Amino acid sequence: MPIRMDPITAIYPGSFDPVTNGHLDLIERGTKIFDRLIVGVLRNLEKDPLFTLVERLEMLRETTRLWPNVEVDVFDGLLVDYARQRGARVILRGIRAVSDYEYELQMALMNRKLESQIETVFMMPAEAYSYLSSRLVREIARLGGSLQGLVPPVVEQRLRTKVP
Ligand code: PNS
Repeated sequence: MPIRMDPITAIYPGSFDPVTNGHLDLIERGTKIFDRLIVGVLRNLEKDPLFTLVERLEMLRETTRLWPNVEVDVFDGLLVDYARQRGARVILRGIRAVSDYEYELQMALMNRKLESQIETVFMMPAEAYSYLSSRLVREIARLGGSLQGLVPPVVEQRLRTKVP
């Protein structure tokens, strides 16, 4: 029997406050595996974001525009509802270290309970980004440290104007 290979759409969800080189590393890996990758930016963050939704979207669009199979979009409500609505069969998440695992496992299993047809796929970013997070980037920017190699130049410029 011939094997049917339907195009696979994956959602890469997150807060992206702001997008870091670690996120971009994962997006690039995702573009090579999935036919279409939708970067889903959560509209309502529980905590006050540093960047507005529009700013987070602008930075993501600018830094991902070289990948033709990447789309940047906004979502609200349950991630699995959004994935279903966008015809995505996969949720892509990055795992940096063992410390990420527990939270990610809990989310992946809960998402599976809510929607058994959607698989969570974990990928590891390059080692150089294994200690990188948006939270630390915001803190380094606030305290005047170097962001060299941690975020793309466009994000660094925005951080410098946001946190003078
Ligand atoms: O970048 P983050 O903050 O780690 O991303 C977390 C995110 C956006 C993936 C998660 O909070 C999420 O999926 N929120 C949407 C609401 C939802 O579906 N909650 C149930 C998850 S089990």
